[in-house]
Amino acid sequence: MAQKASETLNDTTILVCGGAGFIGSNFIHYILEKYPRARIVNLDKLTYSGNLDNLRDIARDRRYKFVKGDIAEAGDVARVFARYKPSHVINFAAETHVDRSIHVGSLEFIRTNVQGVFNILEAVKNSGRIKKYVQVSTDEVFGSLPLNSKNKFREDTAFAANVPYSATKAGGDLLCRAYHTTWKVPVVVTHCSNNYGPYQYPEKLIPFFTVRMLEGKKLPLYGDGRNVRDWIHVLDHCAALELCLTKGGPGEVYNIGADNELSNKEIALLVLKEFGRDQSWLTYVPDRPGHDRRYAIDFGKIRRELGWRPKREFKQAFRGTIKWYKENPDWIKRVQKKTGVFNPHIDLWEAHRIKNKL
Ligand SMILES: NC(=O)c1ccc[n+]([C@@H]2O[C@H](COP(=O)([O-])OP(=O)(O)OC[C@H]3O[C@@H](n4cnc5c(N)ncnc54)[C@H](O)[C@@H]3O)[C@@H](O)[C@H]2O)c1
Repeated sequence: MAQKASETLNDTTILVCGGAGFIGSNFIHYILEKYPRARIVNLDKLTYSGNLDNLRDIARDRRYKFVKGDIAEAGDVARVFARYKPSHVINFAAETHVDRSIHVGSLEFIRTNVQGVFNILEAVKNSGRIKKYVQVSTDEVFGSLPLNSKNKFREDTAFAANVPYSATKAGGDLLCRAYHTTWKVPVVVTHCSNNYGPYQYPEKLIPFFTVRMLEGKKLPLYGDGRNVRDWIHVLDHCAALELCLTKGGPGEVYNIGADNELSNKEIALLVLKEFGRDQSWLTYVPDRPGHDRRYAIDFGKIRRELGWRPKREFKQAFRGTIKWYKENPDWIKRVQKKTGVFNPHIDLWEAHRIKNKL
């Protein structure tokens, strides 16, 4: 069946903020492959997790333009709007690592995740010509569910953020709600669960474990290792975001998940299996403060209203992801060389262990 004009992204200019990160770079590839006549402007500050290597293959594509800039600087955002006149906006730009928000500091999180969203909302409001702005948020804003319950986060679940990262994301989400209610800004907010796939900065669980395996190091589990997340492949998330851009109702909120709850220990065991290693390669470290126990997503609304569902089979997509990191050692090396990847929680624990001869 032919797509309706309003449902295609051909002949549109999409401003992607934070497109050099993990999900943003997958999204840009996904859109350019699917829509031969879409134009993309990628506004990214290139923080430690922003990586133009992720977009190397399309750097010369005439449909794609990279602009270095900071969403927390109103002038940077206003200039991009004035110069490229986007019809659609999607924001991935964020400070995203919970451990950093705890151990390194929260101020950058407030700047980017709250002030940055405010600047984008102002630009969308002032432009008056944006068809849709999608603010990519997280299930972490809803807080934590007990392990022994069947409850899931719904769109109307109250925010109960427990760490600075999720608190700042919730702040951005509330601004979106306010701008829609007050000025009818056509914004859609999404709450997605944990993503996995290629190009993820190796501070996050799956590439972190994979890189440790490649370096012959044990896999550290926080606390008892039983914290649960609902894992979704990044391209399933991208397909949901595409539908939010084309068909999402202004002012609406959509939860995105995959009904695929796994504990950190289960993830670690799957990674060990891919490397032919046994459980002696697991090690337990003190838990992270404020560590949410379980996230689970009810994605019935986006399924019913926009016809989306996750398509990838987990085991196969997970194996494909590990294979991608194994086959791209140069990508890993360049990231490590450029940013000296570290995990502040693990590094603090290692220092404590060495000092106290544990
Ligand atoms: N990774 C997940 O599992 C997950 C799940 C749900 C929601 N999200 C959300 O999706 C979005 C993208 O996450 P990700 O995992 O791709 O993150 P990421 O850390 O890989 O990428 C973030 C990108 O934003 C850019 N950036 C940071 N601050 C900026 C600023 N002030 N101005 C412009 N660019 C800036 C970085 O350079 C980087 O390219 C985030 O908003 C995150 O909250 C992520």
